[in-house]
Amino acid sequence: MSVIEKMSSAEAIALEDKYGAHNYHPLPVVLSKGKGVYVWDVEGKKYYDFLSAYSAVNQGHCHPKIVNAMMEQAQTLTLTSRAFYNDKLGVYEEYVTNYFGFDKVLPMNTGAEAVETALKLCRKWAYEKKGIPENEAQIIVCDGNFHGRTTTIISFSNDENARKNFGPYTEGFIKIPYDDVDALESALKSTKNIAGFLVEPIQGEAGVYVPAEYYLAKAKALCAEHNVLFIADEVQTGIARTGSILAVCGNCTCENACEKQASYVAPDILILGKALSGGAYPVSAVLANDPIMNVIKPGQHGSTFGGNPIAGAVAIAALDVVNEENLSQNARKLGNLFREKIGEFIKTSTIATLVRGKGLLNAIVINDTEESDTAWNICMALRDNGLLAKPTHGNIIRFAPPLVMNEEQLLDCVSIIIKTLKQFE
Ligand SMILES: Cc1ncc(COP(=O)(O)O)c(C=O)c1O
Repeated sequence: MSVIEKMSSAEAIALEDKYGAHNYHPLPVVLSKGKGVYVWDVEGKKYYDFLSAYSAVNQGHCHPKIVNAMMEQAQTLTLTSRAFYNDKLGVYEEYVTNYFGFDKVLPMNTGAEAVETALKLCRKWAYEKKGIPENEAQIIVCDGNFHGRTTTIISFSNDENARKNFGPYTEGFIKIPYDDVDALESALKSTKNIAGFLVEPIQGEAGVYVPAEYYLAKAKALCAEHNVLFIADEVQTGIARTGSILAVCGNCTCENACEKQASYVAPDILILGKALSGGAYPVSAVLANDPIMNVIKPGQHGSTFGGNPIAGAVAIAALDVVNEENLSQNARKLGNLFREKIGEFIKTSTIATLVRGKGLLNAIVINDTEESDTAWNICMALRDNGLLAKPTHGNIIRFAPPLVMNEEQLLDCVSIIIKTLKQFE
């Protein structure tokens, strides 16, 4: 038996507290095992996972196909760096570009790195193709955005906690309200040198804000009209989470992203991460067509681990699983059921005011102030009742289980959630 198996939850928490930087505020539960929609703590208590590592574990914990692909590749070749070719990268690149309908991919590791990559790509395209004067490029972003934690990304965040005392900030970003086509139009018309518009198809971290039905399509059309790149950050919404392979696929039920469906809003640059590996390994990607991607030349961008053989093997397996197990359809069906059942309860509830979301990315708004700790206390009670979820902001709790959940499990979870909310009425 390993040391960690003998450790109690309290001991594990004390170790992290003493030796780890305090850059997170985790719910006090110490997990040591995961399978499918379940996780277990070190004392052996079983929980439904309703966070899925912030939507990275869409394919369920320790999916055997993904784990096997990872183990097989790990025993063969782990890392070459991009100083040499390897026999997995091209195969993965062909697979992922066909899957999402783009000419090329630039492989990275984390979501924030992929966002940084997309911003660099957009700026370079603006100078070299659009003819924006050097150092003048502006990128439009949205209020309430969450794109990661690097210095540039926090430069255009509204979250004071994420920004304070990390300046000076990176210039070249204009913030407009989310889900506001008029604000986008007026920014595009009134500001010179706009290179791109970076947007989350649904704002996840902000509290699962789903924009109006044609917002993305209208935004894309405006960007096209002004020769501005439409950059979709699908790090959290992508890979079947919202009931289609991408949230920009709208109501598409086919498995791969494609332009066949009228509702598909084709991004000029697509950013993916998290579930691209099913949560097994850090894999992220930026996809674009040749006229954009070809502005990047050797030495201008890269990462030692980006595009490594394990990442390629894992991502192919993870994307295969999404198709083989119809995860988009399942997310859509169970998401509708979740909102229907919770919505019925909310009609009679004084503690929950709203359920919103798409597919299996949902949030319940708790009837208290943003500053209150009610949502946190509800999450603690959910934990005690066998379900793990976390507040996004203040009084909003996000509910995002692995997409391999079945209807019986979802209904079981709905009853745990309702029973717990009733404790707070
Ligand atoms: C929309 C979005 N973009 C980017 C990121 C950053 O990803 P990572 O934490 O892997 O850097 C996140 C993380 O939650 C996200 O939700």
